[in-house]
Amino acid sequence: MPYADLREFIDRLEAESQLRYVDKEVDWNLELSHVAKLNEEQQGGGSALVFSNIKEHPGRRVFTSALTARERLALALEMPLTTSLMNLSQEWVDRIHNNRVSPEVVSSGACQENVVAGDDVDLGTVPAPWFYPGDGGRYLGTGGFLISKSLRTGRHNLGTYRAMVGDKDRLCIYMIKAKDGEIDFRDYIEAGIPMPVAYISGTDPTLFMCASTLFGLDESEYDVAGALRGKPVDVVKATTSDLLVPATAEYVIEGEIVPGETMPEGPFGEYTGHYSGKGDEEQYFIRVKAITHRNDPILWATTVGRPTTDTHMIMGVNRTASLWNDLKQMQIPGIKSVYGPPASAGRMLVIISMTPMYHGHSTQVGLAAFASVTGNYGLKTVILVDDDIDPENMDQVMYALSFKYQPEFGTQILRRGRSTPLDPSLPRSDRFMTSRIIIDCTTPYEWGDTDRPHRIYLDDDMAAHVKANWDGYFE
Ligand SMILES: Cc1cc2nc3c(=O)[nH]c(=O)nc-3n(C[C@H](O)[C@H](O)[C@H](O)COP(=O)(O)O)c2cc1C
Repeated sequence: MPYADLREFIDRLEAESQLRYVDKEVDWNLELSHVAKLNEEQQGGGSALVFSNIKEHPGRRVFTSALTARERLALALEMPLTTSLMNLSQEWVDRIHNNRVSPEVVSSGACQENVVAGDDVDLGTVPAPWFYPGDGGRYLGTGGFLISKSLRTGRHNLGTYRAMVGDKDRLCIYMIKAKDGEIDFRDYIEAGIPMPVAYISGTDPTLFMCASTLFGLDESEYDVAGALRGKPVDVVKATTSDLLVPATAEYVIEGEIVPGETMPEGPFGEYTGHYSGKGDEEQYFIRVKAITHRNDPILWATTVGRPTTDTHMIMGVNRTASLWNDLKQMQIPGIKSVYGPPASAGRMLVIISMTPMYHGHSTQVGLAAFASVTGNYGLKTVILVDDDIDPENMDQVMYALSFKYQPEFGTQILRRGRSTPLDPSLPRSDRFMTSRIIIDCTTPYEWGDTDRPHRIYLDDDMAAHVKANWDGYFE
């Protein structure tokens, strides 16, 4: 059964010894994030943490380090704890490929157990952490997402965009250009009307994982999350607009983004291991009309920062899955597996194993990865390996790079691709375009039988015999 809410997920983590409570008082100013980050940097990704005693925020809780371990990602998708990251992505693809499940509208939701509206709104009541010394403010939105609705089609979009507390009733949103929420807003700007939005924190993990994944512009992450969790997401009408919000969310910040209104945002210690923004960049903000929340609400926070954090692990799984799904939809044959390692946040570098079946096949796969909805945005390096290499096994990938890669004909450089403005390999003032590279370690199809090197395999019968008599060799 899918998790009905964040609390069921937290209970499951506890039952599987994957969660610890921090009852000692911690300061929201750096201390909380540093406990979380140093915990995550322990072998195996530490434990998920629930902070229950936050300075100046009695009765409020913060949940961190939720998905920094492979085991916890497996639990989020209700898979066996031993499932590898790549197999989690494969499961994701199997669940959502050509499958969508619409949300179910319910008449009331726990997310509205408490409603604070109008002049009573105060974002300072939310225990938003201050993460890193060079940050520009308290970040309420790291493990959350923004909901907007397309003016043209009525489709609800869920997008994870960081959100910095501006003041009492202004929440600043870092929506990178051409993200779905930003594209939605363009129609409202043209119509000259505010865009109703809701910022959500604390749901069933599949919603957060889908909100931080690229899908087609006209797709709703509600429908994908329904397919991923195998059950419709329960949604309820917001209190100040007709937006549908997750009924069991811990926090719903309702409001609107008004055309023409911006405020300075950042810097923020990002997943690239570097700060993004200089503090003088203007971003859109939500004029908050209401904060609705559950009793004893739990804010879900991710630490971001240098690898490896929740962000890298989540994106390792969801970007791998969405790229794999994109390639599947392109119906290119011969692709065995796809893997974006967490250290690349699953998105800057990917490894694809394949069986070259015709002239130019491997180039097609490399180009397809860059042309896909997922890979078009920010993917810089595609490493292609033969089908006997496991992309998740870095020793095998290093072997392929060492013995199967020939720089002259194995390298193709492309120019003028779409970059993420967070990429620290580009100058800070000019980050919207990137070059890309295909590193092709596959055995060229055109070599045919004459030139193709012969791989070494064990003799199957002898290997079976040896395994069957293994202990006898060492008596
Ligand atoms: C923890 C986390 C934080 C993120 N922060 C941002 C952000 O601040 N701005 C942004 O544009 N994308 C951010 N992303 C990436 C987006 O969530 C991702 O591109 C997603 O596809 C956006 O939704 P959309 O495709 O509906 O626009 C973040 C992802 C994660 C996992």
